[in-house]
Amino acid sequence: MRLTLSVIKADVGSVGGHTKPSSRMMAAVEGEVAKAICNGLLIDGFVCHTGDDIAIIMTHTRGEGSSEIHQLAWKAFLAATSVARTSGLYGAGQDLLADAPSGNIRGAGPGVAELSFDHSLSGPRPAESFMVFAADKCGPGAYNLPLYLAFADPMYCAGLMLPPMIKGFRFHVIDMDHTAGDSVIELDAPEDNYHIAALLRDNERFGIDRIVSQTYGEVAAAVSAQRLHAIAGKYTGKDDPVAIIRNQGIFPAPEEIISPFAKAHFVGGDARGSHVMPLMPVPLNTPVTGMYCLPIVSCAGFSVDKDGRFSESYTDFFDNPAWDEVRRRAQRKAIEMRSQGWSGAAMLPYSELEYGGFRDTVSALVKRFRLREERKPEAAE
Ligand code: 13P
Ligand code: 13P
Ligand code: MG
Ligand code: MG
Ligand code: MG
Ligand code: MG
Repeated sequence: MRLTLSVIKADVGSVGGHTKPSSRMMAAVEGEVAKAICNGLLIDGFVCHTGDDIAIIMTHTRGEGSSEIHQLAWKAFLAATSVARTSGLYGAGQDLLADAPSGNIRGAGPGVAELSFDHSLSGPRPAESFMVFAADKCGPGAYNLPLYLAFADPMYCAGLMLPPMIKGFRFHVIDMDHTAGDSVIELDAPEDNYHIAALLRDNERFGIDRIVSQTYGEVAAAVSAQRLHAIAGKYTGKDDPVAIIRNQGIFPAPEEIISPFAKAHFVGGDARGSHVMPLMPVPLNTPVTGMYCLPIVSCAGFSVDKDGRFSESYTDFFDNPAWDEVRRRAQRKAIEMRSQGWSGAAMLPYSELEYGGFRDTVSALVKRFRLREERKPEAAE
């Protein structure tokens, strides 16, 4: 069977400010997903949230970019939006940028990550397991560094030295500033590692779109790297990404994929999408309620049975005392960075400030600048 994993995530409203969706919103999305499983559109589905972003994780056989699957997600987000509106929640429908997109909703606001494979539970994949990363309050390139380290650096993934992975992985890197269609370059790790790093260092412009095994041609990872404000032309919330990563066997093991997140590396995001703050790994369904508005990321793990259904339970990777240490570290880094407030590296540069209002404030001041009249030298006595 050709199986597709689709993860579609959107921020369509939250309780008490931008913290989390309400339980009625979650129930509205779950209801649409349950109907789609019942009528055979989906094989399986799972709904969770990270901060105030709701993610729908699905298996089906309609392929990537299927209009039926995308429309189902859109309908589910509309149902949650309507709950958010009637309950007076903050930011109702925020990420639904188009009025009624027909077909594929990529580019209409929600984050979309999808990948497909032949699912037979034989050959190089006698078992199928994967992880879903979902972030809130951060920029689209938030996974650039951790995924590079997991798929291209044996200091983080010693498994790269094993025969199934030693030829390396092909990185598809997308130029997110290119708005007329997807502009992608394919670079092979480890040969092109320095070229890959030269692009991925810029989290706001370049993002990993997918990663493919060079030995097996199997897709290892798919990421929703896109810029909402490039699409909408104005502030619309952060482009916090989702990613699907297949693990074990011919791919890195879970611990090799999540260990780079122990860095709590600095990314663009946080309050008003305009600061530079550490990415904190959190359990599923964590609200954003810290003393700042820290970028957060969750990670859910699933196995898939022969019919494409999820295992009866899931793994919440960041819900473990080991990650308490990292969370404390992230908080310490956050306090350090915020101690310098708006100054220099603590906030994003002018062009990346998510709230256009910051730019309006500066532009209005720039208009008031005047060339100083040349000072005359004082007449010599
Ligand atoms: P176990 O097979 O003992 O669960 O561990 C497998 C492993 O190699 C971890 O990467
Ligand atoms: P989200 O819209 O991504 O939830 O975050 C908005 C924001 O700017 C936080 O201040
Ligand atoms: Mg929000
Ligand atoms: Mg959000
Ligand atoms: Mg968001
Ligand atoms: Mg085991």
